[in-house]
Amino acid sequence: MPNLLDLKGRVAMVTGAGQGVGRQISLDLAAHGAGSVIVNDYYEDRAVAVADEISAAGGRGVPVSFDVTDYEGVLRGVEGAVAQTGPVDILVNNAGNAGPDHTIFDNTPFWETSPEQWAPWLGSNFFGVLNCTRAVARCMVERRYGRIVTIISDAGRVGEPNLVVYSGAKAGAAGFMRGLAKSVGRHGVTANCIALSAMRTPASEAALEDPEMVTKMLRSYVIKRFGEPSDASALALFLASDAAEWITGQTYPVNGGYSVAV
Ligand SMILES: NC(=O)c1ccc[n+]([C@@H]2O[C@H](COP(=O)([O-])OP(=O)(O)OC[C@H]3O[C@@H](n4cnc5c(N)ncnc54)[C@H](O)[C@@H]3O)[C@@H](O)[C@H]2O)c1
Repeated sequence: MPNLLDLKGRVAMVTGAGQGVGRQISLDLAAHGAGSVIVNDYYEDRAVAVADEISAAGGRGVPVSFDVTDYEGVLRGVEGAVAQTGPVDILVNNAGNAGPDHTIFDNTPFWETSPEQWAPWLGSNFFGVLNCTRAVARCMVERRYGRIVTIISDAGRVGEPNLVVYSGAKAGAAGFMRGLAKSVGRHGVTANCIALSAMRTPASEAALEDPEMVTKMLRSYVIKRFGEPSDASALALFLASDAAEWITGQTYPVNGGYSVAV
């Protein structure tokens, strides 16, 4: 039987890949046969470190630093990267959360917030997905091959009271992917989302170190642990593979069974 996850030398690009979930997906794409992995992060040193890790393991990592919320910057960054790798076959829209600056996580109620506070959430979790997809979709359609995987959150599926704008931005990204799936499907391109619950990554470090918070959160999980980046990566690789050719427009939770209870 052929290896289902053999990525056959395809060119992949992962956004926000300097750490956490995106880093793991990048390493795993390379380990499963991607010919080149374009490793994007807002922070150049993070992108370079992960690209170096890929290269040290025998793959080809191409670092590129841009802010996914900056449309012109995305177009320039992607153009420069594909000049080295060839066109992107697999896009993983992973950059998200509150953007590169995590300090703006807070529990201010929505009715006390302003558009300035919404902007980073909408920027990285929604507009960033549009920008990066726009940068690669035309080429995928022309070449009649593409896999687009967007990382959303269970907050976008079921709502999260302390992350109201994030919930909306992630739900928006999922709606965009559903519409996109319908428009690109006949051109051989698929578009799906993975909805994550709490993962052990640098972004969630502080929350997952608070014992009270941990006990409270784990009550919701059927499998009594938090997610690891590799849990997300396993599904991302499958959706990026040829094996997932007939799967599109969907959102799949990776959440220790959280959804069983909601
Ligand atoms: N960690 C969780 O518990 C959790 C839960 C649900 C969903 N998610 C989603 O998973 C994805 C990855 O999360 P993570 O926890 O690995 O994040 P992380 O914050 O640990 O790492 C994200 C990386 O993305 C980069 N980045 C952020 N904004 C960017 C931008 N505008 N342009 C370019 N790079 C940018 C950061 O510099 C960072 O290196 C995000 O979309 C997040 O919303 C995470």
